[in-house]
Amino acid sequence: VRTFVVVGRTATATPDFLLDDLPGTSGRLDVLVRCIRAALLVSHGVRRDVVVYLVLGGSRIVRIDGATAQFLRPDERSLAVTVKKALATGESKRGVSVADGGIDVVLAELGGATLWILDEGAPDIRGTALASTDNAFFVGDHLGFDEPSRKAILAAGAQPVGLGPVSVHSEDAIAIVSNELDRCQASRADTP
Ligand SMILES: C[S@@+](CC[C@H](N)C(=O)[O-])C[C@H]1O[C@@H](n2cnc3c(N)ncnc32)[C@H](O)[C@@H]1O
Repeated sequence: VRTFVVVGRTATATPDFLLDDLPGTSGRLDVLVRCIRAALLVSHGVRRDVVVYLVLGGSRIVRIDGATAQFLRPDERSLAVTVKKALATGESKRGVSVADGGIDVVLAELGGATLWILDEGAPDIRGTALASTDNAFFVGDHLGFDEPSRKAILAAGAQPVGLGPVSVHSEDAIAIVSNELDRCQASRADTP
């Protein structure tokens, strides 16, 4: 399983945002919603081996599990509706669930996964031996990580890893990691 944990510093943990002005009314939940698309959706399909956590302002967590997710569409508005409904009802439905808590709750759920923190300037992912299964990547939002979250992630044993010389948007960082993992998987499959 591949896991992406997106740490939203300002993203709202309530459903009280406007779909017509997502960036302006949600504390930039739009950044996190685009991360759902980058992590879970490929052309004409869902990555069934991916789980995404959105950490919302340190107080609530949305978890989307590709194995059971249904009706995920690639447009930002429809994904924002999915998050809004989950936050409003608090119910687990169609692979989407909500829990109270912050980064510590997510860390406790990750079990034996190999942990990575995506950090500009860290050793490049291309020279890094990723695990053959169960990699979990922590991704900052438009502001990067807050210090308490960074400390908690590093204290849990996450290794810093970089994605090249340019600081890219959070969702693009996820797309780059996914591509690297796809390539690793394909070359493992080719090796007799
Ligand atoms: C828009 S960037 C954050 C920029 C923020 N201003 C900062 O200085 O940290 C969003 C997140 O994507 C990841 N990221 C972006 N570019 C990266 C790179 N070149 N290497 C590793 N991670 C990267 C990091 O997790 C980062 O926190």
